[in-house]
Amino acid sequence: MNNGKLRSQAWFGGRDKTGFLHRTWMRNHGLTDEAFDGRPIIGICNTFSELTPCNAHFRELAEKVKRGVWQAGGVPLEFPVMSLGESNMRPSAMLFRNLASMDVEESLRANPIDGVVLMAGCDKTTPALLMGAISADLPTILLSGGPMLNGRFKGRTIGSGTDIWRFAEEVKAGRMSQEDFMGAEAGMSRSAGSCMTMGTASTMASLSEALGMTLPGNAAIPAVEARRSVIATRTGQRIVDMVREDLRPTDILTDAAFANAVRANAAIGGSTNAVLHLLAIAGRVGLSFGLDDWDRLGRDVPTIVNLMPSGEYLMEDFFDAGGMPVVLCRLLEAGHLDGGVVTANGRTMAENVAEAVSHRPDVIRGYGDALTASGGIVVLKGSLSPGGAVLKPSAASPHLMQHTGRAIVFEDYAHYKEKIADPDLDVDETCILVLKNCGPRGYPGMPEVGNFGLPPKLLKAGVTDMIRISDARMSGTAYGTVILHTAPEAAVGGALALVEDGDLITVDTEGRRLDLLVESEVLDRRRERWKRPSVPEGKSGYLSLYLDAVEQADQGCDFHFLKGVRRAGIPLESH
Ligand code: FES
Repeated sequence: MNNGKLRSQAWFGGRDKTGFLHRTWMRNHGLTDEAFDGRPIIGICNTFSELTPCNAHFRELAEKVKRGVWQAGGVPLEFPVMSLGESNMRPSAMLFRNLASMDVEESLRANPIDGVVLMAGCDKTTPALLMGAISADLPTILLSGGPMLNGRFKGRTIGSGTDIWRFAEEVKAGRMSQEDFMGAEAGMSRSAGSCMTMGTASTMASLSEALGMTLPGNAAIPAVEARRSVIATRTGQRIVDMVREDLRPTDILTDAAFANAVRANAAIGGSTNAVLHLLAIAGRVGLSFGLDDWDRLGRDVPTIVNLMPSGEYLMEDFFDAGGMPVVLCRLLEAGHLDGGVVTANGRTMAENVAEAVSHRPDVIRGYGDALTASGGIVVLKGSLSPGGAVLKPSAASPHLMQHTGRAIVFEDYAHYKEKIADPDLDVDETCILVLKNCGPRGYPGMPEVGNFGLPPKLLKAGVTDMIRISDARMSGTAYGTVILHTAPEAAVGGALALVEDGDLITVDTEGRRLDLLVESEVLDRRRERWKRPSVPEGKSGYLSLYLDAVEQADQGCDFHFLKGVRRAGIPLESH
């Protein structure tokens, strides 16, 4: 609303040439005079793409949203934005998160839209859509596509991603046949929907709910469930009222909402990618929420959701158990949730979740029988990571949480692939594997290679985990004692760039430290010799914009010029 008048009326409201021009083409849709008489125009921002199989059902789902919008007296207009399919995009969908957010923001700004339903599913689509919509700050509600059905293979349940990493290691270790490996591929992705482990997609859907940007219960409903269609219709109904109430993202996304989301992430054992995305989302609102808040707020919150990769169940089970309202209720009861924050349905978080109960106590547990006593993201700072590095304790091995080991260094991912299988590699399970130049600038897009595999000769000997340190990310479906997002990254001359084979590194998760035990004079000499790596693909096109503008991992990897709210306003006329 602008002074009580709908924004779209600046396009459609006049009886002059401008109104004529904007209305006449829209009549191609069959829109009648009533559509232009001051009803909220609702944008349905759709990330459907056949190249994003997780979002393949979005055309049908959008029809349910439209039904709800019409029912509530609004006018739905669907529009496409760049879709980021995690399973296909190279080098990484993360390279394009900020680009997609610009598509969303400018599509909202340029068009006669009063409020928007964001249709997100696959990993990066959720943060990209939220970031763009926040900067435009029109009334916004997010609808997730929902997780796919649980995977099945030879009578057992298998999880997206998590079991791929597990099976690949089993094949390398000679414990799984190639035939079974291929057989599992056919049974893993049984329907449309996002990965059904608590990977990045499920995490971001869950945290969107914890932030208050969705209707209650949105995150866990499977993609092909009737209740997914129903919540789509309800979401369409609700956005019309949000426009009438002028309820905007900046009303919902307060410091308290982000604190709720960080604690929810600890409770669900969520993806480390959420660290980057929440930092970037908060940066769009203009909050000072930072990396240290992740550690501080999540530290005393246990992981109570028993889902892969931290636990054993999958999203269908989580839905059966009651989903996010139960988790948020548990947090509320423990004093770990601010129940007073307003959410997209206009009610407070406490009003939404206070009555929720777990229908499957082994899937959503209580604080008394939690999976991990401290589920929060650990932020490690020290001489190796002055800006910070992150570790997910619920996915790590307890015996490696306090450890000093000898570094085995890989200068980049190509060097890792060349060196890791060398039978003469001088490595044992007490060593610390260090991978450089996979950060936001060093390997543009900061790929999910942080859980790089162990040396095959150790896998064959039965070793299942070792400390790995990098400036890369890790898939939300992965696991292991993996230290990620080391900042500053190696490619900009961070301390990681100076590590050499044989250096000692100390990981002290209790003290939140990550230190390179090399004398400063030695490091100074290495720094003098260090050369900034060249960008492999040259510097032009979108990559040029990305490299000029991307921030480090401890800032959320947004473009510096995209931070903050710019509001949609009403652009100048073009005719
Ligand atoms: Fe799309 Fe996992 S590949 S959610």
